[in-house]
Amino acid sequence: MGVEKFAKKEVAALMKARGSLTRATVGPIEGLINLGAGDPDFNQPEFINKAVYEAMKAGYTHYSFTGEPDFKEAIAGYYKKYGVTVDPKTQVLITSGGSQAIFQAFGAILNPGDELLIMDPAYQGYNTPSAYFGAKMTRAKQTKDKNGIYRPNFGNIENAITPKTKALLFCNPDNPTGTVWTQKELEKLAEIAVEKDIVVLADEIYTEFVWNDKHKTIIDLPGMWERTMVLMSFSKTFAWTGCRAGYIIAGPELMKAINAVPVGICSVPVPFQKAAVEALEKGWGFVAEMRDEYKKRIDFMVKRLNEIEGVSCPMPEGAFYLFPDVSSFGVPSMKFARDFFQQKKVRCAPGTQYGENGEGHIRFPMVKPVDELGEVCDRLEDYVKNLPPKAPPAVP
Ligand SMILES: Cc1ncc(COP(=O)(O)O)c(C=O)c1O
Repeated sequence: MGVEKFAKKEVAALMKARGSLTRATVGPIEGLINLGAGDPDFNQPEFINKAVYEAMKAGYTHYSFTGEPDFKEAIAGYYKKYGVTVDPKTQVLITSGGSQAIFQAFGAILNPGDELLIMDPAYQGYNTPSAYFGAKMTRAKQTKDKNGIYRPNFGNIENAITPKTKALLFCNPDNPTGTVWTQKELEKLAEIAVEKDIVVLADEIYTEFVWNDKHKTIIDLPGMWERTMVLMSFSKTFAWTGCRAGYIIAGPELMKAINAVPVGICSVPVPFQKAAVEALEKGWGFVAEMRDEYKKRIDFMVKRLNEIEGVSCPMPEGAFYLFPDVSSFGVPSMKFARDFFQQKKVRCAPGTQYGENGEGHIRFPMVKPVDELGEVCDRLEDYVKNLPPKAPPAVP
């Protein structure tokens, strides 16, 4: 036995499950179009870069134990847009991006053996933090509507809730499915959460990318302030994946628990917190530009994908991912994505990365310009043309 003997048991199990896999490294491959991660291909505006330097020059380089008050105020000001009044002093906690928001939220509530209910499909970044805290992840399968968009299935949600269920986590707008929950769906979920007395974690990091509507939050519905944590990030809103800033919004009592998770001093460097204030004040033109560009890419690629025989791709309601259905080819999505990568040098995520209910799908983030997305579709068309015909159903 190696270092595992020193490791916390949950960490040893994660090490074993991970094996030699790490997230980052495929060396440079000529001609590769990488649509693996959802990392926006926009660089943040110069005024934000400058704000970091100006803050350093002004001496904002010291401890900021629980985060800068003006950053929290700017966050509360931003969230008003969703019709919600937030007290920056007691209801906002700053995190180093959405991933830390997830970790800290889980750390506040999950005991070993607790169940955390997520949707199926769901973003895969919830899995290992929940395993780290010894919680059991359970899933409620979503079902597709007439447009081919996955929707919450409340029968499945209610059936999946057990006496051990501590919390339910949902992502709205959703990565990977593009679903935006309706007001009715949010109300139904709130009713269930109150009745079953569970916490709701609302991952809202794609709020700025809702295509035909306006984002609505669950936190303000009756009975929800005391049991909801909204998880947020600058990563997608301001294309800040490398700068790392995020936050949690929760009621003051729940926030006391989140605050008690010993992650140490606020881990967003102070100059970046100051720049984040500038982003929240003046960054909306940049966000609008990104939004327009994403929409253009989405419209282009949905149309083009649907022209490929056997591929069916719904128009996402929110976020900037496409989750086309390729089940007609009868190839497991893991193999489909791997072979597509090996044969055509396009990296995409297999649907099963998001749960077994994602089988038959692949995920494309819209983080490349239209011409490259066109090239991806051409390569996909070529790839599926050469797939062996699907075996006919077995005759009994
Ligand atoms: C739904 C969702 N939540 C959380 C995160 C993590 O956010 P961050 O990159 O800010 O850590 C991501 C990142 O892709 C995401 O898609």
